[in-house]
Amino acid sequence: MSIRIYRNKEFELLDDVYDPGEDSYLLVEAALKEIKPGDRVLEVGTGSGVVSLFIKDISPYVVATDISPIACRNARINEVQAIRADLFSGICSRFDLIIFNPPYLPTVPEERLETWLDRAFNGGLTGRKEIERFVKDIDRILSPGGRVLTVISSITGIGETEALFKEKGFRMETVATEKVPFEKLVVLKFSR
Ligand SMILES: C[S@@+](CC[C@H](N)C(=O)[O-])C[C@H]1O[C@@H](n2cnc3c(N)ncnc32)[C@H](O)[C@@H]1O
Repeated sequence: MSIRIYRNKEFELLDDVYDPGEDSYLLVEAALKEIKPGDRVLEVGTGSGVVSLFIKDISPYVVATDISPIACRNARINEVQAIRADLFSGICSRFDLIIFNPPYLPTVPEERLETWLDRAFNGGLTGRKEIERFVKDIDRILSPGGRVLTVISSITGIGETEALFKEKGFRMETVATEKVPFEKLVVLKFSR
């Protein structure tokens, strides 16, 4: 277990849980600009809970999920209400804002890790495996007029990701970008 600090807030990080990076903090900043008090928010793939931890300061209606049991325990230690679920399976409510920092790196089988941390990085061969599954069923839990915020890399394919959402009638807006070595991170907002 170790401690991380962002915006003067301390939070805990367990072993085998995604160590928040530029992508996490870019998403925190974009979420803080996007969220309205009273928004019902779902964060998919919460990891340590870092994004929800900051969202909670603006709206108390925040629920998070993660496929990794260790991540769920970590998020709960950080006082984020976390449910173990594959994306949002088993969740029946509707949300005004859905946030997801997915595993977005193209990954070949030989690169797979043998721990739960694999799920934080492994975006399948295209990098879009989890995003594709996420978009497919999103309307079941997104409120009418709801918004989606997601962070991906230029390596994931921004145009390809836009096309997945466009098929479902969403339009895309790039709300934050950051250049890091070898790639560009972008926070994308999808709405109708
Ligand atoms: C890149 S990490 C992001 C963690 C955290 N939100 C952050 O920004 O620091 C992706 C997270 O998504 C989780 N994840 C991957 N596939 C998932 C799925 N199908 N359902 C739920 N969570 C998933 C991973 O376990 C991991 O915690």
